[in-house]
Amino acid sequence: MKKIHELKVLENKSIAEDTFKLTLDGSSLGEDFPAPGTFFQLKIDKGGAPLLRRPISVFDADEVKQTLTLIYKVLGWGTKLMTGLVPGDLLNVHGPLGTGFPIQGEAGKVLLVGGGIGVPPLYELGKRLQAQGAEIVTVLGFRGAGQAFALEEFSTLGPVYVATEDGTLGTQGFVTDAIREHEVAFDTLYACGPQVMLKALDQAYQETKNGYLSFEERMACGIGACYGCMTETKEGLKRVCKDGPVFAMGEVQYGD
Ligand SMILES: Cc1cc2nc3c(=O)[nH]c(=O)nc-3n(C[C@H](O)[C@H](O)[C@H](O)COP(=O)(O)OP(=O)(O)OC[C@H]3O[C@@H](n4cnc5c(N)ncnc54)[C@H](O)[C@@H]3O)c2cc1C
Ligand code: FES
Repeated sequence: MKKIHELKVLENKSIAEDTFKLTLDGSSLGEDFPAPGTFFQLKIDKGGAPLLRRPISVFDADEVKQTLTLIYKVLGWGTKLMTGLVPGDLLNVHGPLGTGFPIQGEAGKVLLVGGGIGVPPLYELGKRLQAQGAEIVTVLGFRGAGQAFALEEFSTLGPVYVATEDGTLGTQGFVTDAIREHEVAFDTLYACGPQVMLKALDQAYQETKNGYLSFEERMACGIGACYGCMTETKEGLKRVCKDGPVFAMGEVQYGD
């Protein structure tokens, strides 16, 4: 049974347009210190609303400093409320939840591909893969230069290429354009981002490469109880929150 934790806010600062980095004291997490690709459901209500917790991935889980760093984009009510968190506040989190990225034995040439709010979970994953001897290339996609974040952190893992839709940074276009432009060679792909991006990567590489894709569907309970996050897979319907959010390439059946 996963636990509810009250974690102290250490820092909450703006790092890009509508994008914040939130650092929490994780020293009370114990065995709930998170694995890459898992997520926490954050209770960020004021006076009982919004009722539903909001799922946010872990960008950096530093076991030495015992800190958790999350990166979130302000999209609506819940994430707007998060911008009001200040050092010393206690944040109620449920988790870690979900099935994260498989990393045992994965080394060789690894390509990390993140799009928008899908970028955060790939950094902790990259750190673990680097520690296992993987050679890492990262390709990140954003709407424009103003929305880009975490380039410095990813550059500690290896080369970083950026694609922006408006062409204000890196390749103009999508992550798939940047992968082609830089002729990135890899054995294993890990990706997180909008479904349209995951579908494009899946279709391009499922026949020839190993790969794992993390889906950030809208969620309610986050623990597999409400069946509100079902997705069609080759083995029938699965719950993104519990059976995922990470699925192997070729597993998810995309709608049109
Ligand atoms: C497993 C998982 C991990 C996630 N990790 C992160 C993370 O690390 N950083 C981060 O910024 N966000 C992450 N998200 C997305 C985040 O949960 C939503 O952006 C957040 O719940 C929106 O809450 P809100 O109250 O601000 O917006 P709402 O008021 O609920 O919605 C505002 C707008 O945002 C859109 N929206 C809501 N949820 C999503 C979503 N999941 N994907 C795309 N658009 C959405 C809505 O359609 C609407 O247009 C993750 C989601 C999942 C399922
Ligand atoms: S969100 Fe309830 S089952 Fe996935």
